[in-house]
Amino acid sequence: MTLRKLAFQTRGRGRPVLLVHGFPFHRAQWEAQAEALAQHALVITADLRGFGESAFEPGFDPGVSTMEQHADDLAAMLDAAGVKEPVTFVGFSMGGYVAFPFFNRHRPRLGALALCDTRAIADTPDGAAGRATMAAKVLAEGPKPLVDGMLPKLLAPATLANRPEIVERVRALMQAPRGAIAAALRGMAQRPDSTPLLAKIDVPTLVVVGEHDAISSPAEMRGIASAIRGAKFVQLAGAGHMTTHETPEELSRALVEFVTKA
Ligand code: MLT
Repeated sequence: MTLRKLAFQTRGRGRPVLLVHGFPFHRAQWEAQAEALAQHALVITADLRGFGESAFEPGFDPGVSTMEQHADDLAAMLDAAGVKEPVTFVGFSMGGYVAFPFFNRHRPRLGALALCDTRAIADTPDGAAGRATMAAKVLAEGPKPLVDGMLPKLLAPATLANRPEIVERVRALMQAPRGAIAAALRGMAQRPDSTPLLAKIDVPTLVVVGEHDAISSPAEMRGIASAIRGAKFVQLAGAGHMTTHETPEELSRALVEFVTKA
């Protein structure tokens, strides 16, 4: 197990809440939710290996960053931050893919779980092959082909048409080192199917999805919620995949309510 030291930030006081960003973002994705949650909890945001202030050196390509490695990095980061109490793990999309191995490998550290706009199933063979092709393209050309291909899927059609400031904010969040993008793409492509795990999850769970999420659909996320005992399901009207940006206040409200009651 190779661990990497992750950059992180803590704010607020109380029970610990760990916010884990999606791909290819970094901890600033959670700015609005971290501010709201810090009124009620100790909020920890971290940059996963390769991203944000945990950035790989320019030109460094580790090959693959697996979801298990991300989960182990986060557990080590909690040690470094002196967080001993079990956390509420809030995972957005790839952050949710990391939540599953975190549950598997670090169960005592987990007090509650919020899965935002994420999936339990593995990639299809075509999806995995597409990621391999994209990883090679990004290594050769930089993040632009990924960003151009992904943005239309991240945002609801109405956001794309009418909210240019959100489009630009999300585009800016996607500027990550080539090696980090390629390694995370390969890691997501090889992640296992976590569906069999859902029935084993034994912590309070919240499942949140944007009404127009084109990556992790409301139907799929409702299925995840039904497979987890006692899970609460919340659908945010008007948002696509990027609930952190398209419906920031509504997402914050759902998370604050969950964290203060879980
Ligand atoms: C994310 O938001 O983390 C990505 O959409 C996940 C993915 O590419 O599967």
